[in-house]
Amino acid sequence: MTDLRQEVQRRRSFAIISHPDAGKTTLTEKLLLYGGAIHMAGSVKARRASRHATSDWMELEQKRGISVTSSVLQFSYAGKEINLLDTPGHKDFSEDPYRTLAAADCAVMLIDCAKGVEPPTRKLFEVCRRRGIPIFTFINKMDRHGHDPLDLLAELEEILGIRSCPINWPVGMGKDFKGVYDRHQKVMALFDADASHGETAIEAHKLAVDDPELARLLGRGAHEKLVEDLELLDVAGDPFDLDRILDGRLTPVFFGSALTNFGVQLFLDAFVDMAPPPATRISTIGPIEPDSETFSGVVFKIQANMNPAHRDRIAFLRICSGRFERGMDVYHPRLGRSITLADAHQFMAQERRHIAEAFAGDIVGLYDTGLFRIGDSLVKNGPNDLTYAELRTFSPEHFARIQVSKVLRRKQLDKGLHHLCQEGAIQLFRDFDAGMVEPIVGAVGILQFDVLKFRLEAEYNVDVTFKPLPFACARWVKGEGFDPHAFQRRETTACVYDLYDRPVLLMRNEWALQWLKDDHKGIEFLAFAPD
Ligand code: G4P
Repeated sequence: MTDLRQEVQRRRSFAIISHPDAGKTTLTEKLLLYGGAIHMAGSVKARRASRHATSDWMELEQKRGISVTSSVLQFSYAGKEINLLDTPGHKDFSEDPYRTLAAADCAVMLIDCAKGVEPPTRKLFEVCRRRGIPIFTFINKMDRHGHDPLDLLAELEEILGIRSCPINWPVGMGKDFKGVYDRHQKVMALFDADASHGETAIEAHKLAVDDPELARLLGRGAHEKLVEDLELLDVAGDPFDLDRILDGRLTPVFFGSALTNFGVQLFLDAFVDMAPPPATRISTIGPIEPDSETFSGVVFKIQANMNPAHRDRIAFLRICSGRFERGMDVYHPRLGRSITLADAHQFMAQERRHIAEAFAGDIVGLYDTGLFRIGDSLVKNGPNDLTYAELRTFSPEHFARIQVSKVLRRKQLDKGLHHLCQEGAIQLFRDFDAGMVEPIVGAVGILQFDVLKFRLEAEYNVDVTFKPLPFACARWVKGEGFDPHAFQRRETTACVYDLYDRPVLLMRNEWALQWLKDDHKGIEFLAFAPD
């Protein structure tokens, strides 16, 4: 039998955070190329186009030019098993990227050298920061003209408040881009724009900084500037410090050009060296070691209709500790009973393969026949009350009543709303006194309404309109003697119930919340849904 500890130590799970167009798809593809999971670049993009045929709802992704879904990709590199969690980059989209980050052990922040740090990246960065996970920075598109590299480092510090340590350093950019100097290996990797047009993996040509051949190839000016820059970084920059990197206080920085493959392998080699294996996770019963004999995991994403031909739902489970085996019986604390995990999948781009075994750090897809909700924990050989609370429902900030244009489609609407709510695409509420006459939907980002409308039409054949509500703040409430009538104030506060019959107050703004808090001292106002 495989050694549990060894297998867990080989796992690396990360997510890429970036702004749309920074090159996430391109970098992902190149990582797969170097990981040997694909042999010719273009496959991910090609698949992106052909996915159209198999799953309608991704049309939206195409129309919008954004990535609506998070997929999970697996590949091996240098003896490590890598799980790459893809996060949608649009600022308005949803909670999905936040949950995905909660399932990852570290993040790669991808920055376009011409754009610098953009606001949505900042939001995602803050989520990583709060979790204290390591953040690797890849500054992309060096084959194009962009900001000065020193200015980009200053931006990391000024905008994100994180110190940086360049692992490699670029010489020139745009049409003058000559390559990067690896400060660890003390060699220059030369850029050859014509080498492969980025389709196949390339080996960089490497030379030491004091090699006369390098001075000749770079030209005197560029070589002198490199020597000066390196001295400046040695004196004024932060020294390499793996402990500070691992607790998220220092970000190692890499420069490259994903499109032409340049710098991708240098990055991947350093990344697998530095990135941490799965860490101890905090559960409701205390810390759980990843290589413990207790199997535990948490559902961080549910995706319905990945393949409309089968109408299936997949629950993505992050294994937090122990070993997963096909057919195992696990305890489902929320349901209060055991279930059998008969079948599980891992994902390679849009392909799935059945798996027999997986370990802490891995993400597996489980067929969901309605047993799972986001945030559900599963456990075996451990206490039945072991759960992970970090993936709870986030408080929505946009609300609307949903109306169906053809009354006869009402049943379909209810079915669709239930599914999409369980999946975490939206949150669904009902009036406390009028039931589901006109359901209320809540979203973290406004674009979720567009996604909802599109998916209801495409998957449930229901045409809906939204009537926006004047609320911007929601709190789950707990407390003795809570009376919904006392909170019903037209236009400023409404009491509703969520899908699981927990009372929620919707308020116009934070002021209204403060006012309610002052008035109702015995009641707790929670920003996350209680378990
Ligand atoms: P995303 O997933 O983050 O949204 O970005 P994506 O990889 O789709 O890349 C966005 C655009 O940036 C693409 O161009 C891509 O080719 C380009 N790109 C990515 N990495 C680099 C790089 O290192 N250098 C340069 N010069 N460009 C890069 P596009 O014209 O929008 O799409 P396409 O026609 O190339 O597919």
